[in-house]
Amino acid sequence: MPHIRKAVFPVAGAGTRFLPATKSVPKEMLTLVDRPLIQYAMDEARDAGIEEFIFVSAAGKGALEDYFDTAAALEMRLRAAGKVEALKALDCTRLPEGALTILRQAQPLGLGHAVRQAKNLIGDEAFAVILPDDVIKSEKGVLAQMIEAHRDLGGHMVAATDVPLSEISKYGVLDVASENGRVCCARGLVEKPSPHAAPSTKAVIGRYILERSIFDRLDALHPGAGGEMQLTDAINADVETVGVSGFTYDGQRFDCGSIQGYVQATAAFALDRADLHDEYSTFLSQKRQHLSLVA
Ligand code: UTP
Repeated sequence: MPHIRKAVFPVAGAGTRFLPATKSVPKEMLTLVDRPLIQYAMDEARDAGIEEFIFVSAAGKGALEDYFDTAAALEMRLRAAGKVEALKALDCTRLPEGALTILRQAQPLGLGHAVRQAKNLIGDEAFAVILPDDVIKSEKGVLAQMIEAHRDLGGHMVAATDVPLSEISKYGVLDVASENGRVCCARGLVEKPSPHAAPSTKAVIGRYILERSIFDRLDALHPGAGGEMQLTDAINADVETVGVSGFTYDGQRFDCGSIQGYVQATAAFALDRADLHDEYSTFLSQKRQHLSLVA
């Protein structure tokens, strides 16, 4: 039996940075080329051996539920028309019976509050949390990398990356006690510190492995930075007892919760596709030439 079997996907955020699109399209359904963000997150989880998927969703996000449902009429039409490739494209949206549970977060009170909604579904096991708006291009999925490292370590583990000090106040940040290869041991975490108060430049990004004890901390949590219930604060409360490590993953991360990150990810994933690469890179170099002529 794999040691981490369940993953929580907090998808209840309003995605206001993508308005007006997110007025009616969930942020997680925005596409990189031809796959929505949630598909990349789901693929990473499946590759890591996850068997149970828990979405913490919200009102207005029905498209996410439909996406992983059977589209009987569509499939029948495609089959009748002999569109084998189109039918095959739907394979990645199929999940084993009962593998997906969708919960509602009644109010967007923060990431900590969103994760707490999954308490009754987790049981006594350690579990993963994946934020689909952090998309990471890597040879081996980041969650799989973390699960491997967590097997020997236990405790809470967060994915970490170095960010410029000028951007540090957007992130949860690790206070690093010691480092050994890709793993660092934290003596604390701070959510959204100002640059002068940041304990390091190691920022926490959207992959976590959490021990069951996190729910006791989440139950006792008060609003933190930005008035939200911060997952970082709950993890920090366990530093002495459960232990917290940061894992510097191998891969290139795109912050698809921001428009800049999303646009860059679109370009990176398009360039990576054999069927798109040549035409798209020609287009990009023409654009670059045009820009240098204008300048
Ligand atoms: P963000 O901080 O990106 O917030 O959430 P957001 O609402 O999605 O986007 P903006 O800032 O309005 O543009 C980070 C992750 O936490 C989830 C989001 O869905 C996203 O995966 N989240 C955040 C919740 O599920 N519930 C919350 O109350 C807050």
